[in-house]
Amino acid sequence: KSGLMSEQWRPQIHFTPKAQWMNDPNGMVYHDGEYHLFYQYHPNSNVWGPMHWGHAISEDLIHWEHLPIGLYPDSLGTIFSGSAVADVDNTSGFGKNGKTPLVAVYTNHSHEKESEGRIDYQTQSIAYSLDNGRTWTKYEKNPVLDNPGIRDFRDPKVRWHEPTQKWIMTLAVKDRVSFYSSPDLKEWTFESSFAQDEEHNGVVECPDLFPLNYNGQEKWVLFISLNPGFLHGGSGTKYYIGEFDGKEFIPDDPNAPTHWFDYGKDNYAGVTWSNIPEEDGRTLFIGWMSNWQYATVVPTEQWRSAMTLPRSLELVEGAGGKPVLKGEVVNTIENIAGDWQEKSDLPVAAAEAGTLEFSFEEDAAYQLSLEFDIQMDATATIDLYNEAGDSIFITLDKNRELVVFDRIDSGETTFNENFPGKYDAPVAFEGPVKVDLYVDQSSVEMFINGGKVQMTNLVFPETLLTGVEIYGSGDSQLITAKARVLNSIWK
Ligand code: FRU
Repeated sequence: KSGLMSEQWRPQIHFTPKAQWMNDPNGMVYHDGEYHLFYQYHPNSNVWGPMHWGHAISEDLIHWEHLPIGLYPDSLGTIFSGSAVADVDNTSGFGKNGKTPLVAVYTNHSHEKESEGRIDYQTQSIAYSLDNGRTWTKYEKNPVLDNPGIRDFRDPKVRWHEPTQKWIMTLAVKDRVSFYSSPDLKEWTFESSFAQDEEHNGVVECPDLFPLNYNGQEKWVLFISLNPGFLHGGSGTKYYIGEFDGKEFIPDDPNAPTHWFDYGKDNYAGVTWSNIPEEDGRTLFIGWMSNWQYATVVPTEQWRSAMTLPRSLELVEGAGGKPVLKGEVVNTIENIAGDWQEKSDLPVAAAEAGTLEFSFEEDAAYQLSLEFDIQMDATATIDLYNEAGDSIFITLDKNRELVVFDRIDSGETTFNENFPGKYDAPVAFEGPVKVDLYVDQSSVEMFINGGKVQMTNLVFPETLLTGVEIYGSGDSQLITAKARVLNSIWK
């Protein structure tokens, strides 16, 4: 296959830059009917280098329009990760003639200072836009938060805190996150730090702090991306649930086992959108669909990396009556969905294998939705395959209360030793188990029981994995099976 946006492995329902290197999503803000997505971008190469903020907009979070680069490196450094907000009360004073300024808060990384052997090369700066993010003016008094002499000091995520009438910046500081406050996005005051419970040798990156409703009560969720330190190796994102009063984050249960946001290997540095209108009420997330272990060597040349599907987050009751973060694909996925193809006469009971015939398009993507009834000591396996002999295997194992995702034979895997593998996630087997799979040209996103377990994994099969085979052991039964085509967002 060839042609821009239809090369081999080019995601058809996920955001990718037309060309070159991308990593973290940045500056996600909703304003004037547009969802903005900025991203860590190297316009001159398909591997990481001097960072810019690439830019795209969407009206439905599904279809994206590529726009010119938003932020370029300057005398203070290159442009690392950060966030953006709509300053509706013009606290910054950047607004003019009643126009709401969009304010970007990002890290300047000075490669010059770094090469001089200094450690204070990361500082926080701001820029504003009065034309819906199309052009940006950097603040003349940058940086707004200088480096206190700490090597890793970056990735500011800013939100308005209504009760204290202040902006709160959540910042990655080496092995912890620090909170700063500001009345105007220009002057920042240190409030407190939150350190993780366990020791690990990696750094904290791209944190986020946001409120969610849980049983009518406000809770605060703190996201921490870790590199390395992920359960299955490389980079991954965990979260804490607790209280935040504008100064300090206090986790509800400091001894709780680690909550991983996504148990797959390829969902990193994700954060939430700013300024989602109250009447909408959703908390919207997007992540970088890769892992620092192998991101620069995945076998795509024209571009490198995609974003996850955008997800809507909620706190729901999980195992043992404890809150758990659930993520579901945004409902505007309907905008690209074909009709459901529903199977009656389901072939799988006990140890019998059966094929489910759906009609998919090779150059599009699809959603597969299955429900299993699995008795004690039983398993059920989903094999997605193609004619070239590539397969992924997803096994639900009731005894071990796990789901296992196996991409060892999924196609191209030899580009890095950390790519092939089997990755598991804990599953609470209470009643039937629902599995939703979003299968694109080079990824599989899995949501179990409506997103209580999320697993995002890259795969590089010769062609789309359109074959579906199901088998089980013991007393397992497929009780519903349906699928639908998801049409390319680029056509
Ligand atoms: C996370 C990260 C951030 C940093 C950016 C640089 O993937 O390392 O901490 O700001 O990427 O591109």
